[in-house]
Amino acid sequence: MKTYELANEDKMPALGLGTWKSKPGEVYAAVRHSIKTGYRHIDCAAAYGNEAEIGKAFTDAFLEGDVTRDELWVTSKLWNNAHLKEDVRPALEQTLKDLSLGYLDLYLMHWPIALKPGVGFPASGDDFLSPDEIPVSVTWAAMEECVDAGLTKHIGVSNFSIKKLKALNANSRIKVQVNQVELHPFLQQNSMLEFCQKEKIVLTAYSPLGSSDRPAVFKAQDEPSLLENKTIMEIAAANNCSAAQVLISWAIQRGTSVIPKSVNPNRIEQNFQATSITLNDADMQIIAGLDRHSRYVVGEFWAMPGSGYSVETLWDE
Ligand code: A2P
Repeated sequence: MKTYELANEDKMPALGLGTWKSKPGEVYAAVRHSIKTGYRHIDCAAAYGNEAEIGKAFTDAFLEGDVTRDELWVTSKLWNNAHLKEDVRPALEQTLKDLSLGYLDLYLMHWPIALKPGVGFPASGDDFLSPDEIPVSVTWAAMEECVDAGLTKHIGVSNFSIKKLKALNANSRIKVQVNQVELHPFLQQNSMLEFCQKEKIVLTAYSPLGSSDRPAVFKAQDEPSLLENKTIMEIAAANNCSAAQVLISWAIQRGTSVIPKSVNPNRIEQNFQATSITLNDADMQIIAGLDRHSRYVVGEFWAMPGSGYSVETLWDE
């Protein structure tokens, strides 16, 4: 398995199991099966509402000898309602309790967006704290303290633009080690990838298969399908593999880590096998031509009137 080296020479496996949208009742079996299949990286978040069940899967996997804690890379994320400096550590401690772990490998700030404490998902602009009320640099400093306390080995961010990464790194003691963003052939993030490689930030690709199982309210009616894209399907046929495997292998060959979600045992195995597939230069070039700068996760749900945020200021484009 290809790995990416972080600041202290720890190695993050390129392929991880995504758990966004994996329902309680399904995620235990998915995590157990993924570990038995050979996955050594599991991507979690408090906001996914399933960390306690994932914790049971970790406990049983350790007890039954499927894997040891230090062989596994576990990422989780700080939800937007815990950005105040006094709320960061308790949020991480709750995640550790739910996941039944003593430490995380990586803790990410989920969004550069702050909600008032206690607000799970906003109903109106009143539910937000503006960037002036709680700058991300304050939240980051509290995350740095979590590294000092041994609660997480690494820290990073998610959904950050190059502009926000530069601003945060300009004044931080611990530099951002990972940025997790939406990334797939329709949103290739070339300048972000170039920037992250220059700054030694690992770039992780979320929604690599197009996340077609996300809630209908967050979906455009005419959104394009990656898994049914004609070009991707042709490349899959030529390589005797599936469209999902093309997408995963493409992501890893470009130097990103990638976290496809599945709760289906066969697809969990299929996605793992994508790490053994190599696309040739011609295939990589054809896929490069599919970029259309199109997001599945637009972030419009943060742009409520009075929230202090807009889609433009979120992505800085
Ligand atoms: P399932 O969990 O039933 O396997 P993303 O990782 O971009 O969020 O996409 C997740 C979606 O892709 C889920 O609907 C998941 O369904 C589906 N999926 C995961 N792996 C595959 C695969 N190998 N082939 C087809 N669909 C897949």
